[in-house]
Amino acid sequence: MILTGLDIACFRNIERLSLEPHPRLNLITGDNGSGKSTVLEAIQCLSTGHSFRTRKARELIKNHEPCFTLNARFTDPDTAREHRTGHSRQRDGSVELRLDFHEMGSMAGVTRMLPVKALTPDSHKLIQEGPDERRRFLDWGMFHMEPQFFDEWKQFRRSLSQRNQLLRDAAGIDEIRSWDVLFAEASESIDDMRRKYVARLALALQRRLADVEGRFHVKLGYRAGWNDEQPLSELLVRHLDYHRRMKTTTDGPHRAEMTLQCDGVPCKQILSRGQQKVLVYLLHLAQLDLLRENGSRQGVVLCDDLTSELDRAHGQEIIRQLLQLQSQVFVSGVDLVELKLHDHKEFHMEHGQVKNVV
Ligand SMILES: Nc1ncnc2c1ncn2[C@@H]1O[C@H](COP(=O)(O)OP(=O)(O)OP(=O)(O)O)[C@@H](O)[C@H]1O
Ligand SMILES: [Mg+2]
Repeated sequence: MILTGLDIACFRNIERLSLEPHPRLNLITGDNGSGKSTVLEAIQCLSTGHSFRTRKARELIKNHEPCFTLNARFTDPDTAREHRTGHSRQRDGSVELRLDFHEMGSMAGVTRMLPVKALTPDSHKLIQEGPDERRRFLDWGMFHMEPQFFDEWKQFRRSLSQRNQLLRDAAGIDEIRSWDVLFAEASESIDDMRRKYVARLALALQRRLADVEGRFHVKLGYRAGWNDEQPLSELLVRHLDYHRRMKTTTDGPHRAEMTLQCDGVPCKQILSRGQQKVLVYLLHLAQLDLLRENGSRQGVVLCDDLTSELDRAHGQEIIRQLLQLQSQVFVSGVDLVELKLHDHKEFHMEHGQVKNVV
């Protein structure tokens, strides 16, 4: 997808701002606190309803204003069709959402139409933090590549939450087991998609790692979240007593894990922070490779303070790989001198306003 127009109103320190982005490379420059990351957050919020810095959309509303409003035009380069989306959020949490002039009841339709990938200074959390981040990362890829993934995921979440509620309420065995079939079906299907996805991602990552200096050998792995030598439906019966005692379902895709190892040791333990950042950026780029291979919609890529903490060689390699993507990219940074050598548009920010377009 290519964003062709973006209007932002009352979003963090931005009162009103309109941009007509470049189809490939957009540089958002300016001093600290000028609003560079805010522009990137606005683009992500249009796609997902929250930003890479907060899941609490309320924080994004400009102080002393009742709501923020975002509007965008974007084009699908494959079909040349232009789309429009609008998103307005009030302080009381009420949201107005439009896609091509239709009111939308949830973000999913817009997210599917306008995939956005954010590479941020916190990206290394994918390695450093718990498995939730990594499951979210995998699910992002499948949401955009597998048409049936979202329905299966909703069925899994709903049946898990109902089953867990019954376990907490110490409900009868038959009542608890009445959710097992739905839960096990959706779980096995998600597991199958995740397993195949990780195998493809591992190959795409190897291709991207091949050109990185001081190349480190990373092995991606996957664990289902239950002992998958037997069907989950049977395991749910065998473990029912345990689940009742624990008052929660301890087997299922919500316990799955994507593992990252370097020479047999978890990457978290062995890679430096800069190396972790490089690895995470390449994992994200590998996800974009899979979207392209699959013929799925291309994501808009946001890079907030891309090369901070990276040495020159690694920073340049990441920039090189980023610019090779066929995607539209928005990069924020204080000056971004090296990127200005490439065909681009620069938006220089001051106090929440674009002062100069080059
Ligand atoms: N809800 C809000 N209302 C008004 N201003 C806000 C709100 N949230 C954040 N701000 C302010 O918006 C400004 C822009 O922040 P932003 O993080 O976009 O700057 P930046 O240009 O990315 O800076 P840096 O170079 O430090 O990364 C900050 O000064 C921040 O205090
Ligand atoms: Mg910033």
